[in-house]
Amino acid sequence: MPVDCFHVRKNGAKRMIVLKTEEQIDGIRRSCHMLCNLLDSLNDVVKEGMSTKELDSYCHSWILKNGGKPACLHYEGFPAATCISVNEEVIHGIPKKNKIIKEGDLVSVDLCINLKGYISDSARTYIVGKTSPQNEKLVRVTRECLDLGVEAAGQKGARILDIARAVYDHANKNGFGVNRDYTGHGVGLELHEDPEVPNYVSPLMANPRIREGMVFAIEPMIHAGTHKCVVLDDGWTVLTADGKNAAHFEHTVAITRNGLEVLTKI
Ligand code: MF3
Ligand code: CO
Repeated sequence: MPVDCFHVRKNGAKRMIVLKTEEQIDGIRRSCHMLCNLLDSLNDVVKEGMSTKELDSYCHSWILKNGGKPACLHYEGFPAATCISVNEEVIHGIPKKNKIIKEGDLVSVDLCINLKGYISDSARTYIVGKTSPQNEKLVRVTRECLDLGVEAAGQKGARILDIARAVYDHANKNGFGVNRDYTGHGVGLELHEDPEVPNYVSPLMANPRIREGMVFAIEPMIHAGTHKCVVLDDGWTVLTADGKNAAHFEHTVAITRNGLEVLTKI
């Protein structure tokens, strides 16, 4: 069956954005609502003294119990159900038995669920107990960056880089660095689809118009210091280059005939 799609150019290469039917969006919505419930439940689960592996096991069992599959597990060889990134870890942290969560930590949990073939993707940074005012500000501003990105995406005639501009400007105004090496992305039938949804703007980037049928993940990754990052020798964990903390919030959104809908919020 031919898929409904349109093409964009990125550095001269042709890329394809797959537009989703209402029925597909409904399936993705169910997957997203399930993921939202799981992330809500983590408010009472993420505690000091717990290992990131225990937190991963909780999420993994929760997903299986609710009839889904962890979509991150084995994705390009990723070894766990969840990405758990603590403090200076930005994204793609691998859960570990010996990584113990402490009071004041910023714990970013990034999760993808496959429910009947429909993929959801969402992340939140949890503050463990009491933390510093600077950490609180970082988490608040990152959440605001996500909200502003969503708002920009929902404007009539908006393009993908309007999201990037909204996220970047808010982070920059608050003195924070914006990760440039990783982006949001189309999602729904695969975990990573086109288009890329960057958090900063540069001239060569593709800038497709946002239109009905698109489903994508908006995910600001904000650093307390420099925008630069490095990858740990485990091949996955992304760390801030200066060792300062980072925060990460992510929603999956859909453009329906009624406009933008945040799917990973109930
Ligand atoms: N939400 C993450 C992302 O968009 C999912 C990563 S799954 C992993 O990059 F397996 F690549 F870690
Ligand atoms: Co994502």
